[in-house]
Amino acid sequence: MGAIWITGASGAIGSALAHTLREAGRPLVLTGRDAGALAQIAQSLGNQAGIFPADLCEPGAAADVLAQAVEQVGPIDGFAHCIGSTLIRPLHLTSDSDLEQVLRVNFFSAAWALKAFIALQLKQQTTASAVLVGSLVARAGFPNHEAIAAAKAAVAALSESSAATYAERGIRVNCVHPGLTISKLSARLTGSPEAVARNAKSNPMGLVGEGKDTAAVIAFLLSDAARWVTGQQISVDGGHAVLHPLPKA
Ligand SMILES: NC(=O)c1ccc[n+]([C@@H]2O[C@H](COP(=O)([O-])OP(=O)(O)OC[C@H]3O[C@@H](n4cnc5c(N)ncnc54)[C@H](OP(=O)(O)O)[C@@H]3O)[C@@H](O)[C@H]2O)c1
Repeated sequence: MGAIWITGASGAIGSALAHTLREAGRPLVLTGRDAGALAQIAQSLGNQAGIFPADLCEPGAAADVLAQAVEQVGPIDGFAHCIGSTLIRPLHLTSDSDLEQVLRVNFFSAAWALKAFIALQLKQQTTASAVLVGSLVARAGFPNHEAIAAAKAAVAALSESSAATYAERGIRVNCVHPGLTISKLSARLTGSPEAVARNAKSNPMGLVGEGKDTAAVIAFLLSDAARWVTGQQISVDGGHAVLHPLPKA
């Protein structure tokens, strides 16, 4: 079994995934921009992971990381893209540069990293699994999320089409859509117990997620247990995208 490449490995979902996969004995390749944060994660994993810091919003960076990682760690046949940002702003107040930046961080980083990963699999001629991280807001209309909803919908479409293209070569591609999850990125909504309690009220299960919730589903999709699962979009959001609880009396 080859190694798994986790991008956004210092984040809430990426770092939870690293711990889950390490417990399952998978070799890991970790990427993020902050080398110090990656080193801390690697240390918490007993220094059993290779760290390859890079800004994956730069074209070509993903291919460079993979080339170095394969040389140092060996074959890589799993990939989880856990990079992202958020922007909560109505479209008429969203600047062109903000719109571009949201697409760059969420969509282009995913497309460039997936392209590099698939190119490596075609070269290695291995079966493989890739998981991209979308968002609840790509699946249901939430006010003021136009830019991030569009970028994450593009990520989901990228995942479905590439799953179709590469299915017969044994390369699976799936997309998970987390709901509101406690992390740096969502700190405005989850940064204090009061904020968590307030935002949990709008969730059908009355909960805000933790990194480990989405990590568990990604780990399954990366495993051989999911060998017949591809082209899927799976929500990890307490039912938020599809359930409509009745108002409380
Ligand atoms: N948290 C939520 O409520 C929520 C909801 C829906 C979807 N999501 C999605 O879930 C995924 C994981 O987010 P999270 O909640 O774990 O947030 P997080 O804790 O803020 O993690 C984001 C990660 O992305 C990395 N990153 C950002 N820009 C990067 C770049 N240009 N190059 C390389 N790494 C970069 C960050 O590391 P560095 O800063 O060191 O680069 C960090 O490790 C994202 O795709 C996010 O959009 C999250």
